[in-house]
Amino acid sequence: MQNKDISVADMAAFCKKKGFVYPSGEIYGGLSGFFDFGPIGLMLKRNIKELYWDEFVRKRQDVVGLDGSIITAPRTWKASGHLDNFFDHVIMCKKCKHQVKAEEFIEEKANIDADGLSEDEITSVIKEKELRCPKCKGEIVVEKPLNLMFYTEVGTGKESIKSYLRPETAQSIFVNFKNIFDSQRLKLPFGIAQMGKAFRNEISPRNFLFRTREFEQIELEYFVHPDKVDEVPNFDKIKKEKVNFLSREEQLKEKSKMTKISFEDISKKSNRWQAYWLYLSYKWFVDYGISKESIRIREHLEDELAHYANACFDVDYRFPFGWKEILGNANRGQYDLKQHMKESKTNFEVFDEVSKTKVIPYVASEPSFGVERAFLAFLFEAFEFDEERGNNVLHFNPKIAPYKFGVFPLIKKPELIKIAQDIFERLNEKFATFYDESGTIGRRYARQDENGTPFCITVDFDSLKDNSVTIRDRDTKKQVRIEIKDIEDTARELLEGKRKI
Ligand code: GAP
Repeated sequence: MQNKDISVADMAAFCKKKGFVYPSGEIYGGLSGFFDFGPIGLMLKRNIKELYWDEFVRKRQDVVGLDGSIITAPRTWKASGHLDNFFDHVIMCKKCKHQVKAEEFIEEKANIDADGLSEDEITSVIKEKELRCPKCKGEIVVEKPLNLMFYTEVGTGKESIKSYLRPETAQSIFVNFKNIFDSQRLKLPFGIAQMGKAFRNEISPRNFLFRTREFEQIELEYFVHPDKVDEVPNFDKIKKEKVNFLSREEQLKEKSKMTKISFEDISKKSNRWQAYWLYLSYKWFVDYGISKESIRIREHLEDELAHYANACFDVDYRFPFGWKEILGNANRGQYDLKQHMKESKTNFEVFDEVSKTKVIPYVASEPSFGVERAFLAFLFEAFEFDEERGNNVLHFNPKIAPYKFGVFPLIKKPELIKIAQDIFERLNEKFATFYDESGTIGRRYARQDENGTPFCITVDFDSLKDNSVTIRDRDTKKQVRIEIKDIEDTARELLEGKRKI
């Protein structure tokens, strides 16, 4: 299901109206790049995070988790390279002082790929193309590069030190590498994952939740023996699967074209572990409702690679504002562990029992999942304005839907309410369920369509005679009668897709 007719501004308005997302601090004029998740949005976000974590951490024997602090020893950021390399070029208007991110501005106005351009190169493009301020048409100049890390003071007075809010969750995995390896008796290959907030002082936050200054990531570092980056058990099972792909070569052409390639071919551009994790991420999105046509993998250009990456691929979603990254996957190699070894003098070598040698583990793959971007992709994918019903419908996969069931008495009669409340309590024990007795039944269905609730149960006058209720499918609007005594089993079968209405 897909409806690209809704703009990002309308999606933001819809999200506010329905209690998914509000601009943060709105009564004081808000703060650009910050959002609050309302009651329904919070449920959707938690479902997305839990399903992802369950699949890639809890259910896997080769992956463990970590919950590191947001602020940590500042030398972490020196060693990781973020203090020296994590910046964006800013363009400022001399007249109105409006600031924009240089790369984005140049790409938009001059239609050239601006990733990796130096300050001088940006200045020449501005001159050559006679670019002016997008707001007041004033003269624009390139400012000093801006480090994207937010800083803060830890402690007070003379003893205070400057530290930073983490710009990625990955670093606490690297600095804790030895703690985790020693305490968990791990053997290569294995992964360490972390879910939590990250902060970036983005120059121009935009497109609603797409580029914010506070967001959540679920990152996983997959450590392998440096000589075994292609030793993936069962790679044969997935290697022939194909995906939409935008290669480096195509991006350098004037009109680039997407092709379909296999994960085996992707592995040849880096390594098999990275291709394997790309496949798992891609499949996860498709399993939870993103159509194969709206997802692609894009290879990073050489000059676009982050300072730590040997190879990088984005999983992109086709938003109404274009194809954009929702998940990144970098081959970070030994960069981070080596940097922290150098800065902290901690030895991160591990003994590999198979080869009987000591090695510095190699991060063959780092799937880095952005929770808000996935949230937004699922919303756009699910959204439809249904002309016939006259209301919006969110066609979420039942597993990610905020509420799984709505329960209503047909009208406000005590005997119907009693049965409906009893069903609500039984279902709500196990599944997120919404009880509603206000307004017409049509209005109540519409409200749940807009929340994306897949199934609604109505207690009517027949229920008093035959102990059955109607259950309505959100997508087809079809209704069937089911027996009240079987309600939990029916509910479970519907959610697991073992039964259809
Ligand atoms: N550790 C690698 C890393 O952080 P990244 O490509 O900069 O890589 C990974 O970020 C993911 O985090 C992105 O794919 C995106 O989903 C999310 N992300 C990054 N910056 C973001 C922002 N400003 N707002 C929302 N999500 C963001």
